[in-house]
Amino acid sequence: MTELKSVKGRLVGSYLIIILLAVTIFTGILVFLLRQYYYGDLETILSEQAQFAANSYSNYTDIVNLDKNAKKLLDNILVNTYAQVQIIDNDGYVLADSENSLLLGKKVDYPDVTNTLKSKNATKWIGELPLTSERVLSISQPIIINGEIIGIVRLTSTLAEIDNIILKMALFFIVIGAVVVVIVLLVSIFLSITIIKPVKEITNAAEEIALGRLEVRVPKRYDDEVGKLADTLNYMAQELSHHQKLKDDFVASISHELRTPLTSIKGWASTLNSSDFTDMDEIREGLKIIENETDRLVLLVNELLDFSKLASKNTSLKIEDVKIEEFLCEIRNQMNPRAQRQGIKLNLEVEDDLDLIRADRNRLKQVMINILDNSLKYTPEGGEIKISAQSKKEEILISIEDTGVGIPEDDLHRVKEKFYKGRTSFSGNGLGLAICDEIIRLHNGRFEISSILGEGTKVDIFLPAAAL
Ligand SMILES: Nc1ncnc2c1ncn2[C@@H]1O[C@H](COP(=O)(O)OP(=O)(O)OP(=O)(O)O)[C@@H](O)[C@H]1O
Ligand SMILES: [Mg+2]
Repeated sequence: MTELKSVKGRLVGSYLIIILLAVTIFTGILVFLLRQYYYGDLETILSEQAQFAANSYSNYTDIVNLDKNAKKLLDNILVNTYAQVQIIDNDGYVLADSENSLLLGKKVDYPDVTNTLKSKNATKWIGELPLTSERVLSISQPIIINGEIIGIVRLTSTLAEIDNIILKMALFFIVIGAVVVVIVLLVSIFLSITIIKPVKEITNAAEEIALGRLEVRVPKRYDDEVGKLADTLNYMAQELSHHQKLKDDFVASISHELRTPLTSIKGWASTLNSSDFTDMDEIREGLKIIENETDRLVLLVNELLDFSKLASKNTSLKIEDVKIEEFLCEIRNQMNPRAQRQGIKLNLEVEDDLDLIRADRNRLKQVMINILDNSLKYTPEGGEIKISAQSKKEEILISIEDTGVGIPEDDLHRVKEKFYKGRTSFSGNGLGLAICDEIIRLHNGRFEISSILGEGTKVDIFLPAAAL
């Protein structure tokens, strides 16, 4: 059962890995995009304000003295912004500051300030304030007069709120992700159970069947591959028990068939042995019966051997081209003396120019003789038997029709069964037609029996015509 556990583990595990990866990547990308968006937005606003302020400075009087104008510039900028505003001169000294007056007159060396002084371009900086370690975004915009940088407008805004929003959203995504993971986990466990449970049932059933409990059946849970497997296993068990039954019946029939002659032989043997027989005729009669019964046994055993050889499918046919007319003539000549003895007419009617057939001549002869034997057995004196052959599309049809006692309709479908024999006194072992059936099957042909009780019987043998 470790095997099955591992199927579940594999299924649940792989689902989990996939979904965890998906959730992580998804959350990561979302947080990144949100950050880009909010930071970008803030940066644009601050840049525009700083740019606008720096540009407007050219309208001031006495523009070279940034020192003097600083306070006014600061106030003007503050009208439009919530950010911290600083005016810094071109040496990095703070001239005005909207929030931190302690810095006034002090030199600052923020990276953005230094960079802007160096490059004369606006630069930004994201970092932590040294004292409060608050995260901020600063934009330094150079004030340029006649191509010379005379100072910097610096706007600084806290990132705390944005970071807070992003953190909340990230948490939200993580919670949703966790819920998804749990759902997927439950679904995949449920799914694996629906797969594993039927498989377990099938395994158990297969083990039972292997132990010979052929009546075991697997319930079919779902109409899927596993369900199909259950069906197949049930079918297998059904076929096995069918075969088992056939075999049991066969053995029972054989035992029964053997017992009758054996009982009679044994009976006569003890009778002959026990009393002091003087009447030679009586002794001869007994011995005659023993001889007849022994013959019947020998015949039965031979037929059985033949039958099991045919049924075991390792008989190889000696296939050759058979000319039907010639073949049927030979059979008629062979059976004719017996027919004449019984006062039965045996006719042969063969269509002209029939195709050859590919067949094992001796086996086919066995079929014909078995069928003719029946017809002769079950047709009273004065009757008639007609053998005919004709071409039917791709097949050759050989028919044997008699005017005998016929077969009751109820029995008709059973006459090909092993050991099935009619109620007439002529009936033999009941193997003749079963052997015919096997032989014709080996030739890829089929045969049909039709009969009207009291009027006669017709046996049709269809064999594939040889391709020319
Ligand atoms: N031409 C026929 N006319 C009437 N009944 C027939 C005819 N052929 C077969 N049957 C019936 O079918 C039964 C089965 O035939 P099948 O040839 O298999 O066995 P059998 O002739 O009884 O014995 P076996 O052929 O083994 O000596 C016969 O017992 C008989 O009742
Ligand atoms: Mg027979």
